[in-house]
Amino acid sequence: MILVAGGTGRLGTRVVTLLRQRGQNVRVLTRDRSRAAHLAGTHIEIVEGDVRDLAALRHAVAGARTVISAIQGFAATKDGSPATIDRDGNRNLILAAREAGVEHFVLVSVKDASPDHPAELMRMKHAAEQELKASRLTWTIIRPTAYMETWCEVLGRPLLDKGKTKVFGRGSNPINWVSAADVAEFVALATFDPATRGEVIEVGGPENLTMTTFVDVFRQQTGSRGNVGHVPTVAMRLMAVVMSLVNPEMARQIQMGVIMDTRPQAFDASETRRRYPSIPVTNLDEVVRRDFAAAPGTAHGSPSDAPA
Ligand SMILES: NC(=O)c1ccc[n+]([C@@H]2O[C@H](COP(=O)([O-])OP(=O)(O)OC[C@H]3O[C@@H](n4cnc5c(N)ncnc54)[C@H](OP(=O)(O)O)[C@@H]3O)[C@@H](O)[C@H]2O)c1
Repeated sequence: MILVAGGTGRLGTRVVTLLRQRGQNVRVLTRDRSRAAHLAGTHIEIVEGDVRDLAALRHAVAGARTVISAIQGFAATKDGSPATIDRDGNRNLILAAREAGVEHFVLVSVKDASPDHPAELMRMKHAAEQELKASRLTWTIIRPTAYMETWCEVLGRPLLDKGKTKVFGRGSNPINWVSAADVAEFVALATFDPATRGEVIEVGGPENLTMTTFVDVFRQQTGSRGNVGHVPTVAMRLMAVVMSLVNPEMARQIQMGVIMDTRPQAFDASETRRRYPSIPVTNLDEVVRRDFAAAPGTAHGSPSDAPA
């Protein structure tokens, strides 16, 4: 049996679908069973628990051969954060997995995870990676770039819903985007292919596109018009400081926007792709057409998160 923590999320849902398609018994950890409603009828076992609750995790990992962590606290609204979810939650999951004699732990981290990165998320993912490497578990670490599907919601969806969107900063920095669907294939591959044990796999997509180009592609593929504004970087830096006092989630997102606009974000994913030629390489225009282009102009196509 494979336990997927984060199996209700954008990536995790795709992972559990692939694992089920390959005949695996899958258990999904969620804080609230209702978040797994879209998995109903797929023969996936749902177990409730929070990664901050070690007792719940001991129950969740019982009998698991493999544990996959696809959790994140970056977008946590109230009491969560990268420190409490990505670092401490993963630490708990790793501990519970070790105690239970789990054979293999797959950690979904993030590209550029490092101890001194300006973003808390990257520092906390790095801490989780270190924790996993220091455990006696057999491990694989996946480090993806930014998900096209996530950013279609952030940058594209407002064009459809409100007729306008805002790009963070100048929007002229090349950024690597990868489809969460392709990342899910990497996670599934890591689960089955023993050659990935002990590997850190950096996963990127085929294109480095600026945020402005990202929005252009979205507009072309959906036929949406709408206004595209910019939030000046100086204003974002100020807002991040103010928001950190009242709305840490928003502060994190604004700070990430500054980082994406100002630090190198391009990535040449061709070496990883050459090593794993069976994994699809999906472009942004394909993702937008797949998820949004059902009715151009007014398209509100639903993201293809639901299991097949
Ligand atoms: N989105 C990106 O651009 C991106 C880029 C690189 C790497 N990643 C990584 O890819 C993975 C998946 O990201 P995503 O964007 O697909 O995530 P997502 O859709 O936001 O889903 C997050 C998942 O984390 C779970 N979770 C959050 N707090 C939890 C807690 N306290 N206890 C138990 N589960 C908790 C949620 O489960 P419930 O809500 O059901 O409890 C949910 O399934 C994450 O590890 C993320 O860091 C994401």
